[in-house]
Amino acid sequence: MKKSLIILCAFLIGGLISNCQQKKENLTKIGVCAPLTGDQAKMGNDILNGVKLAVEEWNTKGGILGQRIEIATGDDRHDPKEAISVAHKMVNEGVIGVIGHFNSSCSIPASFVYHDASIPQISPASTNPQLTSQGFKNVFRTCGRDDQQGSIGAEFVINELRKKRIAVLHDKTTYGQGLADEFKKNIGKSNRASIVAYEGIVQGSGDYKAVLTKLKSRRPEVVYFGGVYPEGGLLVKQMRELGMKAIFVSGDGVIDPEFLRIAGDAALGTFLSFGPSVKEIPHARHFIESYEEKYGEIGPYSVYAYDAANILLSSIQSAGSTDGEKISEAIHNIRHEGALGTIQFNANGDVLVAPYIFWVVKKIKTEDGKEKLNFVPYT
Ligand code: ALA
Repeated sequence: MKKSLIILCAFLIGGLISNCQQKKENLTKIGVCAPLTGDQAKMGNDILNGVKLAVEEWNTKGGILGQRIEIATGDDRHDPKEAISVAHKMVNEGVIGVIGHFNSSCSIPASFVYHDASIPQISPASTNPQLTSQGFKNVFRTCGRDDQQGSIGAEFVINELRKKRIAVLHDKTTYGQGLADEFKKNIGKSNRASIVAYEGIVQGSGDYKAVLTKLKSRRPEVVYFGGVYPEGGLLVKQMRELGMKAIFVSGDGVIDPEFLRIAGDAALGTFLSFGPSVKEIPHARHFIESYEEKYGEIGPYSVYAYDAANILLSSIQSAGSTDGEKISEAIHNIRHEGALGTIQFNANGDVLVAPYIFWVVKKIKTEDGKEKLNFVPYT
């Protein structure tokens, strides 16, 4: 009796182990790395949800190369050191490709790890030019670049807002300072506007009144900020508290509903550069309906992550292999008809087309007749 029980247990345990092994072998893992906790978690989870949607759709159609796709997540908390350790974790977990990171300050150091491991990396959101200027054949992005964003920002302030006295603030990160410097460089090319102040702030410090008071004394008509929404929201709020009337202008890192929540009515009349509305893109209808049904409101970078994941998965499929070099080559050759429209990459891994427009914060009427702050394309 005892002996047959032992045999039965051994048989069951053996079965379980082999089942687990089989499951492991039948999985293709892709990584999603972004700030998934902390004050930038909103953007990180928008990216994760965009990838989840793409993966669910592929799994419903049978997965990839006959295998189910699984997501391995890496929370870099927008900390460059954490991004490197998250990248090593991805390599150790055997991911076939990575969608990430959100911040340029994380994507760039992590790219060295992915490059050494021959793992394709597609960032949906990192806009600093350096990311794709390192000669890495495995690095791509589905968003635009800050040399474009900084240049249209300067053009907008000079020709559209017609302002002359410009203050520039940045958050001392790769992205924030990089964007501020591109903007400043382009203002410098014109003789119709001048930089009256240029200052850096510390991310997360919360009280920016000292630096804003300094800016106020220079009487700027525009404050251009390179940085992300937690600081962007507080800056514009504290500007208004100090009685500063200067127009607040910023970029893709700030355009999130969280910015409106933090700033409240102080955000009214703020201008932000980003891509065109996803709701205006005919190809995006399916994405919009499926995303909203599963995850609610679409975040600014959700669609960039959704297309990035589909590009990675289609390239694994067309390469017919999980070999990183073969997949990267397939990404270089892809012509992807995605939710954002047609995406192709140049030799550096940048998208061929990255249109930027300006958005303005206005109060709009909701269906129940109430008013709420929202981003509206500026025309
Ligand atoms: N575009 C921002 C960055 O590059 C999010 O960090």
